[in-house]
Amino acid sequence: MIENKVKVAINGYGSIGKRVADAVSRQDDMEIVGVTKTRPTFEARSAIAKGYDLYIALPENLPLFQQAGIEVNGTLDDLLGKVDIVVDCTPGKKGVENMDKYRKANVKAIFQGGEKHDKVGRSFNALSNYKDNIGAQFVRVVSCNTTGLARTIFPLVRDIGVAKVYATMIRRAVDPNDSKKGPVNAIVPELKVPSHHGPDLKTVIPGIDIDSMAVVVPTTLMHLHSIVVKLSRPSSTEEVKGLWRNTPRVRFVKGSEGVESTAQIMELSKDLNRDRADLNEIVVWEDGIQVTGDTLYYFQAIHQESDVIPENIDCIRAMCGLMEDNIASIRKTDAALGLI
Ligand SMILES: NC(=O)c1ccc[n+]([C@@H]2O[C@H](COP(=O)([O-])OP(=O)(O)OC[C@H]3O[C@@H](n4cnc5c(N)ncnc54)[C@H](OP(=O)(O)O)[C@@H]3O)[C@@H](O)[C@H]2O)c1
Repeated sequence: MIENKVKVAINGYGSIGKRVADAVSRQDDMEIVGVTKTRPTFEARSAIAKGYDLYIALPENLPLFQQAGIEVNGTLDDLLGKVDIVVDCTPGKKGVENMDKYRKANVKAIFQGGEKHDKVGRSFNALSNYKDNIGAQFVRVVSCNTTGLARTIFPLVRDIGVAKVYATMIRRAVDPNDSKKGPVNAIVPELKVPSHHGPDLKTVIPGIDIDSMAVVVPTTLMHLHSIVVKLSRPSSTEEVKGLWRNTPRVRFVKGSEGVESTAQIMELSKDLNRDRADLNEIVVWEDGIQVTGDTLYYFQAIHQESDVIPENIDCIRAMCGLMEDNIASIRKTDAALGLI
């Protein structure tokens, strides 16, 4: 049992926030002190049922909580006075609005991929730039798609060399719990080229030469990436497979074993009996990997709600100086989460 655990707050208990809270609770060197809601929703009740102390992010909404009979432990400001670090999981672009509050409270803060890199100043991926963020006050964990790109591309950069990446992101329309937005029956190209994903990858793998395009399709399960990489030298399918087999948080599936689409990947994740049937690893079709000369082709799938969760844990460790070595932190996180 570790004494002096890092004290963590979650501001914004939604899709990402509730998962980070549960992941922190599984670690022995950090603990959740409280989580926030703005409204007395079913998620507020779920947080209390899980044993989390609930705080309100918008004090003016206290009467709503009182009317709903939901007890709160105080306001976000009260919570910030009790923690070392806050993981801001509020909706995209809202997080940086809280920066002054965090600065005044003298707490470290992690922001999510919906915030712009320039507004936070630092971005994080556990494999590619953990050490750069040791001791930092404000860091952004890159988005689910950028995390997916970094997980498979960084080992190629490190061990083989990458001349150029061409990546197409086929993006899920919304998360499964969202009944408000679409598209329901259309495919929507992102007409701005490059899509934001390529430039975003450069925030965690500086110098990478990448072109990216994106489309949104009517599915909620996962994103899918279609990627072509010009390597710096000729390689082989076996060499690349060997590299990814030894890369944390990359999992192979095979079409030949019936995993033909994101539907079967999500079925596999249910079979794994993890919390919420999440799949934190990036999923690469092993029989879809092909190297011809110096050109690599592959497909990968991203469980958007969960791939960034272990990254948030490693980011807490780096920022709070709990561990110097990224691989040691990744192993510790993954063991606590029951990942391969
Ligand atoms: N979902 C994904 O696929 C995904 C993947 C990677 C990264 N991200 C990023 O993670 C961040 C959070 O996304 P999400 O998907 O978790 O969003 P979400 O499900 O909408 O959760 C955000 C939560 O923040 C709360 N909130 C709203 N306004 C707030 C405020 N002013 N102060 C405190 N809490 C507030 C909302 O709850 P109440 O208002 O009910 O309290 C909501 O449940 C975004 O930057 C997003 O881009 C999302």
